[in-house]
Amino acid sequence: MRIAMRGVVAAVLCLAFATASAADGRAPAKRPPGAAIASAHALATDAGFEVLRAGGNAFDAAVAVSSVLSVVEPISSGLGGGGFYLLHDARKGRDVFIDARETAPAAATAASYLDAKGALDRDRATNGPWAAGIPGLPAALVHLSRRYGKLPLKATLAPAIRIARDGFPVYTRLSRGYAARREVMERFPGTRAVFLADGDPPQDGELLKQPELAATLERLAANGFDGFYRGVTAERLLAGVAAEGGKWTAQELAGYAVREREPLRFAYDGWEVVTAPPPSSGGIALAQMMQVLAPWDLAKLSPTQRTHLTVEAMRRAFRDRTFYLGDPDFVDVPVETLAHPAYAAGLRASINPDKATPSELLSGAPTPLEDEDTTHFSIIDADGNRVAGTQTVNLLFGSGLIPPGTGVLLNNEMDDFALKAGTPNAFGVMGYDANAPAPGKRMLSSMTPTFMVSPGRVAVLGTPGGSRIITMVLLGALGYADGLDAQAVAALPRFHHQWQPDAISIERGALAPDVIAALRAMGHTVNEPKEAANGQRSSDTWGNLQTVEWDRATNTLHGGADPRNPVGKARVEARAAR
Ligand code: DON
Repeated sequence: MRIAMRGVVAAVLCLAFATASAADGRAPAKRPPGAAIASAHALATDAGFEVLRAGGNAFDAAVAVSSVLSVVEPISSGLGGGGFYLLHDARKGRDVFIDARETAPAAATAASYLDAKGALDRDRATNGPWAAGIPGLPAALVHLSRRYGKLPLKATLAPAIRIARDGFPVYTRLSRGYAARREVMERFPGTRAVFLADGDPPQDGELLKQPELAATLERLAANGFDGFYRGVTAERLLAGVAAEGGKWTAQELAGYAVREREPLRFAYDGWEVVTAPPPSSGGIALAQMMQVLAPWDLAKLSPTQRTHLTVEAMRRAFRDRTFYLGDPDFVDVPVETLAHPAYAAGLRASINPDKATPSELLSGAPTPLEDEDTTHFSIIDADGNRVAGTQTVNLLFGSGLIPPGTGVLLNNEMDDFALKAGTPNAFGVMGYDANAPAPGKRMLSSMTPTFMVSPGRVAVLGTPGGSRIITMVLLGALGYADGLDAQAVAALPRFHHQWQPDAISIERGALAPDVIAALRAMGHTVNEPKEAANGQRSSDTWGNLQTVEWDRATNTLHGGADPRNPVGKARVEARAAR
C-alpha cells in the first residue's frame, strides 16, 4: 500500500507564527468581533452571554456556564465533582491549566474496594460514599473568579442560583439517565428528597427545582471557598457521607486545593496544539497520536488507510496510558519522553501500513455503553480570552449520593483510579502503580480540553465520553486541520480504539461497509453498535463535543454544538461586551 507522506518540519511552525499572515494576504485579526460559547445546554450558553453582557470576561462566563451545567446536567457534572479548565489569558498571552480534579480521601485505600474474594467490588467503586473523591469543582469556580474574572461570584453564580431555585424543564437524556440509575439513586434519602420531591422520578417537560442546591450555591457565592469546604455545607457533606458508611474528614475538605499546571504543547501540520497535562491522560495521548500521524497527508489517503493508521496511533497511545500515567504530584510521569516527536517516530516505525498490530491479550472488558455523563464547554470572548472546560461526576449521576440538605450529588470518580491493578474500570481502561489510589492523590482522567492555534485560526474543543474523549478530540483536531468548520467538527462520525479490548468500536454508519470490510481484511476487529464485545447493544452514537472557532483571516466566530445532543447550543454574538 502506498501512503502519502508529507515533509512538514515541525520547527518551521514557530517561524510561521511569528511572520504569517492569512492565506489571502490579509493580516490576521488581533481581536475577535464578539464572543462565542458552545455548551451542552442552552441555559448554560445563555448564562455565559448574560455574564459577558454584564461586563464579565470569558473566565466569568466560564463560572456561569460551569455552574449552570452543574444545575441542569446533574447527570454529567456538578458541585460534587471536578473538572479541568484550560485558559488563555489574551492580555498576558498566557495559557494555564486549572486542575480541579477530585482527590482520594485517606480512608479510600485500594484494599477498601476489594470484596471477600479479593475481586474489585464494583458496587463500592461506583455507587455511594466510597465511590466519591473530594470535590474540586466549587474550588475551581472560586479560583476562576478570583484569579481571572472581573465580576464577583455573586454575579457569576446568579444564573445557576436562579435556575436551581426556579427549576428547569427535564429533558429526555436526563429522564432516561435517571431510569438507568434509579435503583442506586433511590438508596439514599438525600437523593430521593431531590429527585422524588413530587413523588415520582423526573418526567420529560416537568420542572426540576433544587432549592437546597440553590442555597449551597448562595453560600459559595457569599463566602467563596469557605462557603463550601468549611461551615454548613461542609458539615452536611461530612454527615451525609458518614451516614452512608463513608469516611471523609473535615481536614480533607478544607485542605482541597486546585492546581495550576503548565499545559502540554506540540506542533501538528502548521498548528500549535495546547492541551491537558497529567493528571489527564488525554493531552499526552493526543500528542502521541497526532505526532505519529503527522508525516502522513491524511486528507490524501483512502478512508481505509486513514482509519487504519489512526487506529494504530490510538492503540499505541492507550497502551502507554495504561502503564505510565497518573497524578504528577505523586508519580514521576515521563511526560517529555512520551510527548516527544522522536518517541512518536518510534511508535510510527512499528506500524505496518497493511496489517493491524494485534494488542496483547489481556482482559477483554467492553467499553461503556452510556455516554451521557460529563460535559464540555468552549468559550472565546471579544478580547480573545479562551476557556475550554470539561467537568464531570464520572458515570451517570456519579455515585448517586446527595448528602441531605446540600443538593450536591457526589461523584464516583474513585473508579478512575486503578483500584485493583490490571482490572479494567467502567471504561474498560486499566492501570497499575502510577494510577493506584493514595491519600490526596488525583485519579487519572481522559478529559482533554484543547486549543488549536494556527496563524489564521483558533479553535477551542472538548467532549465527554470516558476513554473515548481522547479519540474524539483527536478526530476533532484532525477535522480542524483538514479545514472543517466548527459545526462539521462537532458532527464528525466517530471511531475508537483503546488498545484493550483489541477492537475498533464505531458509531452507527461512521465507516462505510467497504471500509469496514477492508479493515477486517487487514486484521482489525470492528465492532459495529450491535456487536458490543459483551453481547449487549452499545450506543449508536457517543460524545457531546462542544467547540468554538475564531477565523482570524475573515475575523469571524463560529460555534459547533454536537448534533447528537438536542439541548446543546452554540451561539455567536457580534457585540458581546468586552
Ligand atoms: O475523567 C475521566 O476520564 C472520566 N471520569 C470521564 C467520564 C466521562 O466522560 C463519562 N462520559 N461519558
